[in-house]
Amino acid sequence: MAREWSYWTSNKLQILGDYIPAFNTASKRSEERLYLDLMAGRPENVQRLTGEVIDGSPRRVLSAAPGFTRHYFFELPSNAGELDAVLRKDFPLKNFRVVSGDCNRTIDGVLAELRDFRWAPTFVFIDQQAAEVEWETLVKLARFKGEGAKTKPELWLLVSPAFVARGVGGRKSHAFREKVTRFYGTCNWLNIQEAREAREISGEEYRDEMVNLIRHQLAERLGYKFTQRIPMRMTNKSTIYDMVFAGDHDVGDKIMQHLYNKAAEREPEMMAEACRLKALQQEEQSGKFALFDLPPVTPQVKVDKLWRPTSYWQPGTRKWWTERDRGLGARP
Ligand SMILES: C[S@@+](CC[C@H](N)C(=O)[O-])C[C@H]1O[C@@H](n2cnc3c(N)ncnc32)[C@H](O)[C@@H]1O
Repeated sequence: MAREWSYWTSNKLQILGDYIPAFNTASKRSEERLYLDLMAGRPENVQRLTGEVIDGSPRRVLSAAPGFTRHYFFELPSNAGELDAVLRKDFPLKNFRVVSGDCNRTIDGVLAELRDFRWAPTFVFIDQQAAEVEWETLVKLARFKGEGAKTKPELWLLVSPAFVARGVGGRKSHAFREKVTRFYGTCNWLNIQEAREAREISGEEYRDEMVNLIRHQLAERLGYKFTQRIPMRMTNKSTIYDMVFAGDHDVGDKIMQHLYNKAAEREPEMMAEACRLKALQQEEQSGKFALFDLPPVTPQVKVDKLWRPTSYWQPGTRKWWTERDRGLGARP
């Protein structure tokens, strides 16, 4: 079955589609370039409001020019077989493997298989929903190139405090909280959760603190030199998730900063178009037509910079913070 997507997914995947050729151009002197997609998705995806078929990350990456030389697509067994069959048919000449199973368990085998290519520039996309990836997996990726390597694999990670908040409030709250702890590699995220529950911080502050904590972990526990975040917003302007980038190379960081600004430029127009289509859809369903009342698509406002890089902060400086554990995974 096709997965239904909203405009923020298209915006996110456009960043990926633009970054991949830039990454491969910047590292074209290297004979091998590795791509790991820890949550590769289904072969078919459609735009929720238009029904338009949209390429997911595997197709975008396999079609990129210049592209990677080796690709690993991790997926759960329920989707992996179909993904493999479709990609084999459409990209018979590409070097890729669909790895069936929980990526947190299958990662060891793949990293062992890639041991001889540890020197190769590597990009890892982690397109999770809430907290499916485990901190231990991120530690293994960061250590993959070994001690003394100048750069670690670049990580591009979806972080959604909004989905975490939903899971924490759900029926299986206890098990879900443990899952979130496995994602952060520390119980310290509970400081933020409890501050929100006690109304000491707003919803927006909750999202900022939760994203900041993972940036802090990536920078200070894994030693990533650069981390960036871009919030992806819904039409009501609240953030559905952030895309967090972690890398060690200043060229990669500059390109990603440029693409984050482009994505922020596209967003208002995508939002306005989504509102327009939604209103049309509601009219069709109600049988009432008021086309002249529909919100027009706002022309793109040209601003110098819509997105600006921000630094992470020390989460422990908050008055509601107590160190609960020392966390998993020291600097590689
Ligand atoms: C948001 S979708 C990914 C979409 C994909 N990147 C794309 O562009 O089409 C998340 C995917 O992760 C898969 N998934 C969830 N947990 C996983 C795990 N532990 N290991 C591997 N895949 C997982 C789900 O089956 C789902 O297809």
